[in-house]
Amino acid sequence: MTRSSEISGFYRRTIEERRALLREWADLSEEELRAYEFPPGIPAPTVDRMIENVVGVMPLPLGIATNFRINGKDYLVPMAIEEPSVVAAASNAAKVARAAGGFSTSSTPPVMIGQVQILDVPDPAAARHRILDRREELLAAANAVDPVLVKFGGGAKEVEVRLLPSSRGPMVVVHLLVDARDAGGMNAVNTMCEKLAPELARLAGGRAVLRIISNLAVHRLARARATFRAELLATPTASGSQVVDAILDAYAFAAADPFRCATHNKGIMNGVSSVVVATGNDFRAIESGAHTFAAWQASHDHAVVRPLTSYEKDRAGDLVGSIELPVPVGLIGGATAVHPTAKANVKVLGVKSARELGELLAAVGLAQNFAALRALATEGIQRGHMELHARNLAASAGARPDEVDRVAATLLEEKAIRFDRAKEIVETLHGRPAG
Ligand code: MEV
Repeated sequence: MTRSSEISGFYRRTIEERRALLREWADLSEEELRAYEFPPGIPAPTVDRMIENVVGVMPLPLGIATNFRINGKDYLVPMAIEEPSVVAAASNAAKVARAAGGFSTSSTPPVMIGQVQILDVPDPAAARHRILDRREELLAAANAVDPVLVKFGGGAKEVEVRLLPSSRGPMVVVHLLVDARDAGGMNAVNTMCEKLAPELARLAGGRAVLRIISNLAVHRLARARATFRAELLATPTASGSQVVDAILDAYAFAAADPFRCATHNKGIMNGVSSVVVATGNDFRAIESGAHTFAAWQASHDHAVVRPLTSYEKDRAGDLVGSIELPVPVGLIGGATAVHPTAKANVKVLGVKSARELGELLAAVGLAQNFAALRALATEGIQRGHMELHARNLAASAGARPDEVDRVAATLLEEKAIRFDRAKEIVETLHGRPAG
């Protein structure tokens, strides 16, 4: 008989019952089942309330990037990511930036956009005017939904109306601009949009359908800038000034070519997303927002996508990097307020507002990108990757913690970074003949 994944009431079962079911489904061993266990400090009931059908946790490595100095303040930056080299690269880049004073950052107020789609509007231009005429009442009605947000200086601030041609005919799309203060803003914005929708539909003479936040947070931007001194970039085979030029060439490649740009921006998100994950924020929102922002900005120049960073050489011949990206992240609400590790990470970061967190994300994104370009434009990124890979191979081949470095060094020396060779070396070390 074929197995069915239709399991009635799965959500009503306990975590233990769900695990037992999985055990049977996949014939999991005791050891495999243990991988679902909650680490000390992460209470099962907390996780069980965060999402549905919980069976365990999926811990990612959490590393701390050092050396960050932003607007004269020092930060230790928790980064949750499965990819080797990212944390080391961010720390190294921050060290170079630090020598010239560190990162300077700025940001817009934390304004998110909510969208209400209105269909079957007989006269969209007239509807637009009718809605804008009622701006004050609409903002007041939206703000009545969230008096606490308003008390803290946030709330609905503006109404915009767009007339959107579409494959299904013209649509009226209302944007509600909401200052979310220290929240990500999703709940406040969606609730306000749902509240306003019937009145907007009435004013437009149509019907309101979608009411949802936009992840293209063009009004919630953070910027960072840093100088990377040429003299600190020299390698055994290239002068600092040659490396500056090589990085500018790498940047120009990304600015000219979407295939390269996708990878360039991905490297930026290595840094940004790992801090977003570490702080319990929505990494899909920031990823989607960043990539759409890059495409949206490029569209003004009839291009496909744009690097989120840019680079130039200053009069002294040093490299100056900058970045601008949307940062829809919060410190209150959501997993940030619930997940014990996220809470500890926010405390380690010491950020006091969502804006400060957004600016830090921009600095980390710039650091990560600078590190990637520097590596790519000089020795390539594989050496650093291979060192970590060799250590991983050594450990999985059975090297004890005090032997890992030795085994990895031999693998690198022999340029034989393979599991079978790692196993041979470990067996020889342990006095067992290889083979
Ligand atoms: C790898 O995760 C990220 C890089 O590919 C970024 C880049 O190419 O700029 C190294």
